[in-house]
Amino acid sequence: MFLIPKSSLKNFDPERCCFVLNEFAAAEFASGLEMLYAAKNINNKKLSEGFIRHALDEYKHSFIFNNLKNQIVSEYKINKKGLNFVPNHLYNKGYIFKDHFIFEKKKINNFAIFIGANEEIAEKKLVAFANHLKNQKKSIFNEIQSILKDEEKHAEYSLRFAKKNNGLLSYKIKITKERIISYLRHLYANNLNKLSFIFYPILITILIIVGLLSCFLKLKKKTSIDDIMNNIEPNSMV
Ligand SMILES: [Fe+2]
Ligand SMILES: [Fe+2]
Repeated sequence: MFLIPKSSLKNFDPERCCFVLNEFAAAEFASGLEMLYAAKNINNKKLSEGFIRHALDEYKHSFIFNNLKNQIVSEYKINKKGLNFVPNHLYNKGYIFKDHFIFEKKKINNFAIFIGANEEIAEKKLVAFANHLKNQKKSIFNEIQSILKDEEKHAEYSLRFAKKNNGLLSYKIKITKERIISYLRHLYANNLNKLSFIFYPILITILIIVGLLSCFLKLKKKTSIDDIMNNIEPNSMV
């Protein structure tokens, strides 16, 4: 999921740009991991080589995005911990599932459709991001063009394989479903701020209610020792 600047964001905002580059770097790295897993587990040498090439492209993209981010960080002297690339974020932000790889859950025909649809969306996001930087950061715009060529290739190869190995009707149904799911996922990510505007007050209200209710609970206590933690019985903890 990429959180890209809205089209209404006219001026170049270095910090926001670094944040987006960091998200892209994480997404590319996660994509590289998924491809590597697929390469190791597919029982087909030709496909395995294709997945490895794809994985290498994604790692390269992640490296480029990180470099671009670092350039802006040093140029504008930005000092923000949140802009560091932290591998754990791949899990915490949902770029990688904690308990499985996508390839484990999908048959190769469906996996190809999933990859193709997501590469298409990633490409559109990247085009929007690059256009946003076109006037102020021409060098970054140019670097992104080389990544876009790879992404185009990824989508094309995956969808060509999917078309060949699914019936035409089945392909159309599956790709439409995958495009809708991906669209909704990205829509959710792009509107996270608006959604949190709705859900944050609800969360605070729930916490206040739970806090008030806890005042009426009588916790069982052992009073034999003077240690607060030991005085509370585990079964009385809420
Ligand atoms: Fe990529
Ligand atoms: Fe890609």
